[in-house]
Amino acid sequence: MASISPDVATRLKPDVLPVVKLIYEDLCNLQADQNVLIISDARTPDYVVSVFQGMALAMGAEAVSIECRVPVGGATYQPGSKWPSMLGAAAMEADLIIDMAVGYADFIVDAINNGARVLCPGDGIGGPFMDDVLIRTMLHSDIHAIRRHADKVAQRFGDATTCSVKTGDDELIIDLTDVEGLPACGFLWDPDKKDWKSSWAFLPPAQPGILIPKGRGTGSINVDGTLLYHPDYHEKPDSPLRLTFKDGHLEAIGGDPLLAARLEAWLEDLGDEGAYYGPVHFNIGNNPNALLTQSQEWERVYGSITCGMGDLSLLGGLLSDIDRAILNKSSVHWDWTVLHPTIYLDDKLLADKGRIYVD
Ligand SMILES: [Fe+2]
Repeated sequence: MASISPDVATRLKPDVLPVVKLIYEDLCNLQADQNVLIISDARTPDYVVSVFQGMALAMGAEAVSIECRVPVGGATYQPGSKWPSMLGAAAMEADLIIDMAVGYADFIVDAINNGARVLCPGDGIGGPFMDDVLIRTMLHSDIHAIRRHADKVAQRFGDATTCSVKTGDDELIIDLTDVEGLPACGFLWDPDKKDWKSSWAFLPPAQPGILIPKGRGTGSINVDGTLLYHPDYHEKPDSPLRLTFKDGHLEAIGGDPLLAARLEAWLEDLGDEGAYYGPVHFNIGNNPNALLTQSQEWERVYGSITCGMGDLSLLGGLLSDIDRAILNKSSVHWDWTVLHPTIYLDDKLLADKGRIYVD
């Protein structure tokens, strides 16, 4: 497989302006009298941050940008990250937070409870080619078709009682009793219904799916997509990594010798039993332009699934009204992706060979 090299710009692409305008108008319903707080760090080009600030100002909103330090370990260690109190104070004044640095954090939950809405253009992670990702996956895709498709997939998850995922001879079964389907489409605002859709959303769209209460998921699966764990590098195994679960707990790691050994050593050294629990979320990508790069866009690759491991207590509070007490807690959140699994919801096919069936 060819190595994918996204377009890392050395200047502002003019196309960033229309995609940011689209984000503010169609996804955020930004109004002229609102306060916009933009949080970033040095991983994201300053000209991308400037466009988010400048476009909000051009639309008549007030917009303030704060750049904070690069968090140690990146996305995997977000649940255990500590943030300066200055960020929390500014967040309490915001109507809309554009988060390109933080992701899951208690002060973000507090801001939402205070009435703010939060959009993460890079899924809570800064990146050197965020502009390329947003242009390719949003401006050059039909984001409204992706949103409506994500709503249909979410509905199918919500209507089902069991999810079966098959990779080769292996099968992983997840109990969906009392589990809500979520579109995870990036839209805070529903432009069809002219009403708010969510308080927290991430880009690019979309990866509809479910949050999974602790203790569910039994069987084995072969991971041939991305593995996000330590420190912040998104790896693709040379051969599938085989993970075996019992009642939502990772029991065995096999398959690809290099990654199996490294993952096992990392988990053992971590000394955090909560890191072995999962899947804590299960999502299927539906963006035809998403690629396997070092951006979280890999979670939206069409027809692939991404499952989370470890902490869900923070993400769960951001994404839904689910009781956080039934969600797993850990100092880390890590993820794995399967590119073309066969998925059944109850006895009805949802996905096979990279195709998704909703009607
Ligand atoms: Fe995750």
